[in-house]
Amino acid sequence: MTRQYRITLLPGDGIGPEIMTVTVAVLKAIAPEFDLQFEFTEALIGGSAIEATGNPLPEATLKTCKNSDAVLLAAIGGYKWDNLPRHQRPETGLLGLRAGLDLFANLRPATILPQLIDASSLKREVVEGVDIMVVRELTGGIYFGQPKGIFATETGEKRGVNTMAYTEAEVDRIARVGFETAQKRGGKLCSVDKANVLDVSQLWRDRVVLLAAEYPKVELSHLYVDNAAMQLVRAPKQFDTIVTGNLFGDILSDAAAMLTGSIGMLPSASLGAPGKPGVFEPVHGSAPDIAGQDKANPLAQILSAAMMLRYGLDQPEAAEKLEKATSKVLDDGYRTGDIMSPGCKLVGCQEMGEVLLKAL
Ligand code: IPM
Ligand code: MG
Repeated sequence: MTRQYRITLLPGDGIGPEIMTVTVAVLKAIAPEFDLQFEFTEALIGGSAIEATGNPLPEATLKTCKNSDAVLLAAIGGYKWDNLPRHQRPETGLLGLRAGLDLFANLRPATILPQLIDASSLKREVVEGVDIMVVRELTGGIYFGQPKGIFATETGEKRGVNTMAYTEAEVDRIARVGFETAQKRGGKLCSVDKANVLDVSQLWRDRVVLLAAEYPKVELSHLYVDNAAMQLVRAPKQFDTIVTGNLFGDILSDAAAMLTGSIGMLPSASLGAPGKPGVFEPVHGSAPDIAGQDKANPLAQILSAAMMLRYGLDQPEAAEKLEKATSKVLDDGYRTGDIMSPGCKLVGCQEMGEVLLKAL
């Protein structure tokens, strides 16, 4: 029986449209084999939405996303919009999408592909075999806490304020995702906080410890965020699954990503309540410096489509097919500029798509 899925495509800015085109072609190519039918609807977000509507997240976009089974996002942002007031910036559109779809759980895998080990800036023996999943809380913490803003004090001096806050329920739901993810992986969960200084982190830690009783098979540890950053570059293999808040997760997931050598290879999934659409997007940005030059690496977008198939649409076989094809083109020596190494074949974004289609 054919399964039909409504997929919202958000190509966004910079290299976004290029990598999205390749990914859609690949999704179309595998659909028949798995009895899938995709109905794609494109919508505006980020800088391109600002240009067209003045709003980085037009209401129509959020509505389309809400009415779909999954959202595939490429990347947003560019120099052109960096100096607009905050409410008009591309990033505000992305944060609005996360909040609007209640995507509280962000899964960011950092897996070293054997073919790309030498692209890492760390020694082979340090990174070989690294396979980490960062579970980042995505709709709370200091990104969304109130009060926030720049206010005048009594003396007229300006004072900038953000608030890091988590309720018990907010901690519990992300901690559960952490425990469950660890359970499906290597069984180890490291909760990262700053409980030696921050009260919000003390509450975080207390709740995580309390919930641990429900997951006896998961080995739980805790690290302060500064130590976690150090351990990630010192001995990354000690980590299996990391669960942490919004800001710490933002920082640590970039560090974890770079262990793999190129941020151009890493997908992510942002999930809300079960049955609600998730957003699947590469970890990298819109790379305005190479936009429109057919130089972008589309593989993180392809792997994000694989995460969409696995976590969003429950089609693990189709997901695996995409992951295997990605691995095959790397085995065959095809590389975009960001992951190029001597002896390999340099290809552009489009050609990478073509060899992927052949590998399928
Ligand atoms: C990310 C990005 C975003 C974030 C920005 C673009 C708002 O850095 O997805 O990690 O800080 O969450
Ligand atoms: Mg980030």
